[in-house]
Amino acid sequence: MPEFLVDEAIEDYAYVSTKAEPPLLQELIDATNEHMGWPQKLSGRLVGRSLKMLAALTQPKQALEIGMFTGYSALSIAEGMPVDGKLICCETNPRAIEMAQRFFDRSEHGHKIEVIFGRAADTLANLDIELDFTFIDADKRSYLHYYEEVKKRTRSGGLIILDNVLWSGKVIQPESELDDILVETNRLIAADPDVENVFLTVRDGMNVVRKL
Ligand SMILES: C[S@@+](CC[C@H](N)C(=O)[O-])C[C@H]1O[C@@H](n2cnc3c(N)ncnc32)[C@H](O)[C@@H]1O
Repeated sequence: MPEFLVDEAIEDYAYVSTKAEPPLLQELIDATNEHMGWPQKLSGRLVGRSLKMLAALTQPKQALEIGMFTGYSALSIAEGMPVDGKLICCETNPRAIEMAQRFFDRSEHGHKIEVIFGRAADTLANLDIELDFTFIDADKRSYLHYYEEVKKRTRSGGLIILDNVLWSGKVIQPESELDDILVETNRLIAADPDVENVFLTVRDGMNVVRKL
């Protein structure tokens, strides 16, 4: 799987030309690299700063993250949210939750975050709130289900952001059932009359969707 889809020198240039994340998030990256398997799951500076920017611009009061891992994107979103905003995070990995919570406890934005352990589909089924902002970044097989369930709960004007929509470039030449699922998800969102969207080539692809 290629680490970079964009030319690596260009990716590096974009990285150094983007303001750094706060020191606590840099520490979180180091801790994730040291203690967790597969640290590249963490979305990183370009996605994280994009999420923070989008949250700061839209000031969501009620937000959701599907797939929290060690909390990098959660803290990035929370940083942009108003002080009384609430971000619900779905995660199935207890070790990731434990590490994330240690960083949330040290962050001035941590009080905005509530973690729900368990499969996101179950959490969503019991979620009775109107969403302003959602970041979808868990198991790709369920992306379309997550999108549909989140869209139902999203207010008009609310954002739904899906990560890894380029799927390491495999959406161009799909070879597996999972590749096809990503292609179909992207196709259906682009054709969905309920939303407008922009498909950004940031890192592994970010689909920014706004409900009409
Ligand atoms: C790519 S990582 C998330 C990275 C994180 N958003 C970040 O940017 O740092 C995906 C996470 O989704 C979690 N996950 C996978 N399937 C899930 C499910 N059905 N429900 C909830 N979480 C799930 C995994 O345990 C993993 O931590």
